[in-house]
Amino acid sequence: VILVLDFGSQTAQLIARRVRDENVFCQLVRHDLPIERIREINPRGLILSGGPASVYADGAPHPDPALFDLDIPILGICYGMQEVCRAQGSEVSPSLSREFGHTICSVQKQDPLFEGVPPEFTAWMSHGDQVKNLSEHFTALAATDSCPTTAIRHHTRPIYGLQFHPEVTHTQFGSTLLSNFVHKICGCQGTWRIASLIERQVEAVRELVGRNRVICGLSGGVDSSVTAALLAKAFGTQLSCIFVDNGLLRKGERDNVEEEFTGHFKTDLHVVDARQRFLDALSGVSDPQEKRKIIGRVFIEVFQEEAASIPDAHFLAQGTLYPDVIESGANPDGPAATIKFHHNVGGLPERLGFELIEPLRDLFKDEVRKMGAELGLPDKLIWRHPFPGPGLAVRCLGEITEPRLDTLREADAILIEELHKADLYRDVQQAFAVLLPLQTVGVMGDARTYEDVIAIRSVNTEDFMTADWSRLPYDFLQRVSTRIINSVRGVNRVVYDISSKPPSTIEWE
Ligand code: XMP
Repeated sequence: VILVLDFGSQTAQLIARRVRDENVFCQLVRHDLPIERIREINPRGLILSGGPASVYADGAPHPDPALFDLDIPILGICYGMQEVCRAQGSEVSPSLSREFGHTICSVQKQDPLFEGVPPEFTAWMSHGDQVKNLSEHFTALAATDSCPTTAIRHHTRPIYGLQFHPEVTHTQFGSTLLSNFVHKICGCQGTWRIASLIERQVEAVRELVGRNRVICGLSGGVDSSVTAALLAKAFGTQLSCIFVDNGLLRKGERDNVEEEFTGHFKTDLHVVDARQRFLDALSGVSDPQEKRKIIGRVFIEVFQEEAASIPDAHFLAQGTLYPDVIESGANPDGPAATIKFHHNVGGLPERLGFELIEPLRDLFKDEVRKMGAELGLPDKLIWRHPFPGPGLAVRCLGEITEPRLDTLREADAILIEELHKADLYRDVQQAFAVLLPLQTVGVMGDARTYEDVIAIRSVNTEDFMTADWSRLPYDFLQRVSTRIINSVRGVNRVVYDISSKPPSTIEWE
């Protein structure tokens, strides 16, 4: 195992994930993990992450100084490198020319860390401090125009530092550098597989849960499904799943969940039909934020009532992923800055009185997908586009009624089916139909119509924070439009959304 000591960088977890991509198990731990604990874990290598602080500032996070005497290979990245230098007697101070973004680095000295890296490459920087007087223990391996010590190593011991971020894709040969560190310098074999992580998590939750009963909320999405599948593997009979049908789901969603979690995984599945309750609560409401609030509130009520009917439940499992943790700033232990408050109405408050289990908390989406495949979930579910907690309510603009939801659901199902047929579903990251709150004039046969408009939204995105509209082929859009207008009653027009995020958002509400 390789440990990443987290000094609060936005990309600390990404380092761990890049190392796992090398088939080496890697975990993020607190920056001040006591030396005794590190000895116990006995890692092959340590990586010190970047962080927002300055190493010389009051209250800056520091590792246990005994770390440097362990004789385990160490790689410090950005702040981590400055920590390495500070601990070994180099001077770190604010630099006159700060470096942000793409910077050309030139390799000065051959070293196993730089094997396979050309003499010049572009690296991604984000630092204002730099190492001024490198102590005599170190030698510079690479430099930039304004920083002579952009990569360093200890003369005699396997202690390295990189001022740039090898974990981000903007750094050329970043994965080569990390691969060299874990394989060539730490001597890892690269035999770890996602299956080992499943085993590890299964053991960990078994130990935590003992003989207690665990409740898992299912949403139909990949995260909660993988969580439930993992728990089903760990202790099938102690698991109860709750699926709330709020009437705002995509077509076939409830059937799919039932098939998977009673048919395949044979869990104790509680499907709560709360369609009417949600409809009643949403009656007459058009404001998007108001809709979200109501749905969030009713969801918690319904969930709580159902959970109370399950005796002896002590734990609640949630499919929180790493990006959710960082976006909601929900990691009170870490020195990271909060980026965005997540607007997930599926989240349950702590006051429900359960102890939380979040077995996917350290993982990225694609790792969760791999895990799902390994656990035997079908491809169709694993590659499902994300669906917002408030569901069709925020895609049914204006007032929510059952007939309007039915219209939207049918149109959406046609779009999704056509995307699958044309083998385009996995080329776009999120696609859906939106029902507009207005009528337009059409002509069908010889008669005038005055009916609903459906908008089609499809986006390409890496992280859902920014997105571009998908350049779907015209003949595909034509097919979707014809099918929707011909077969969804009450719709006489289909339009395609060609806005990017920002300034638009992905959802319309
Ligand atoms: P926006 O519309 O903000 O969406 O560009 C970004 C991503 O978040 C999803 N989304 C939500 N998810 N509850 C959720 O659970 C919400 O209220 C919500 N609003 C947007 C959206 O589908 C997209 O994937």
